[in-house]
Amino acid sequence: MTVTEGKPGRAALHLARAASLAPSPHNSQPWFFVEEGHDRAFEVHADAGRRMPLTDPGGREMVIACGAALLNVRTAVRHLGFRPLVDVLPEAADQRFLARVSFGAHAAPTDDEESPARALSLRHTHRGPFGPEPVTEALLAELRDRARAEGAVLQVLDVPEKVGLLARLVDTAERADRTDLWRAVELAHRTDLWRAVELAHRVGPTGVPVGACRAHPDLTLLAGRDYLGLSRRYTVSKRRRGVGTGIVAVLCTPYDQPADWLLAGQALQRVLLHAAGHGVMAAFHTQPLERPELREEVRRKVTAGRYPQMVLRLGRPPHVCPTPRRPLDRVLTRRPAPLVR
Ligand SMILES: Cc1cc2nc3c(=O)[nH]c(=O)nc-3n(C[C@H](O)[C@H](O)[C@H](O)COP(=O)(O)O)c2cc1C
Repeated sequence: MTVTEGKPGRAALHLARAASLAPSPHNSQPWFFVEEGHDRAFEVHADAGRRMPLTDPGGREMVIACGAALLNVRTAVRHLGFRPLVDVLPEAADQRFLARVSFGAHAAPTDDEESPARALSLRHTHRGPFGPEPVTEALLAELRDRARAEGAVLQVLDVPEKVGLLARLVDTAERADRTDLWRAVELAHRTDLWRAVELAHRVGPTGVPVGACRAHPDLTLLAGRDYLGLSRRYTVSKRRRGVGTGIVAVLCTPYDQPADWLLAGQALQRVLLHAAGHGVMAAFHTQPLERPELREEVRRKVTAGRYPQMVLRLGRPPHVCPTPRRPLDRVLTRRPAPLVR
C-alpha cells in the first residue's frame, strides 16, 4: 500500500476517532483505517495481526468488531451532515478490506439520526451485576427494531428455561477456558499487565483495564470472563448468584459468512448506541460461541437455527469504566486517491 505523507484530513480524523470507540474482543482493536485522497473516502480494514488466534481462529469476532467500527463511521458521517455511501467488501481478492465509506448527498441529520452520535463516547462494556432499575419493554422493542433494520435479529430470552440453558452453555465454555493454559495466557495478554509491555514497545494501549473487570465473574447467571483470575482466589455461593443479571439476549443472523459477521457488528453497535443513549449498557458472554460444538448447541436450542453472533446482557450499570484506545496515528493512514480518467 502506498502511504502518503502529511496530515490526515479533518473529516478522516473525526471518522477514525469515532470508529476507534467501537467494542472489540478484549479491546484488541483489530482494525486499521485508510483515508483515500483528501477526505475523499474512508476505508475500514481488519488487522488480522490483532486477531485472537485461539479464541477467534476464523476471524468472526474480529469482523464483528470491525462491523461495529463501520457503524460508528456511518454515524459520524451522518453527524457531519452527509449521507454515508457504503461499499461492503469492495475487493473480492482482499477479504480484509471490509468497507469503503464515502460522502453522499448533504442533508441535516434528524434528531433520531443524531442521538447515536451523542452516545458514541457514552457506551462502555459492563461486567458484573447491573443495578435494580429495569429496562422497559418499550426500549427492548426499539432495540429489536435497530437490529432488524441492519438485517439481524436481537432475540431477547424471556423464558427462564432458555436463560438457564444458555447459562449452562456459557458455564461449560468458561470452565473449559479457565483450565486451558494457552487460552489463559491469551487472556492474560489482554489485561493491564500486558499493557505495560505494549507501552514499552510503543504499540498500545489495548486490552481490558483492571478497573473494568473487578467484579467476580460468577456473580451473574451467565458467567463472565475471569480476566483477573478471581475465581482461583475465592468462589461465589450459588445463593448469591444471579442478582443483577439483567436482560439476556442473543444477537443472531440468518447466515454465517463474513458479510453476515460485518452486518452483525453493525447491528450490535446500533443496538448498543441506542441503549447507551437511554442509560442502558451491555455485558458480553461470547465464550460458548468460540467453541464450535457449543455454538452449534446455542444455534439449535436457543436461537431457532439462526447463527448466534453475540451473547449479551442488558441493564443499567451502577458505574461505567472507559477503556483506552490506540492513538489515531497508529490506526489511520493515507493513500493517494486513484487517478480519475
Ligand atoms: C466480538 C466481541 C466479543 C466480546 N466478548 C466479550 C466477552 O466475552 N466478555 C467480555 O467481558 N467482553 C467482551 N467483549 C467486550 C470487549 O471486552 C470490550 O468491547 C473492549 O474491552 C472495549 O471496551 P468498551 O466496549 O468498554 O469500549 C466483546 C466484544 C466484541 C466486539
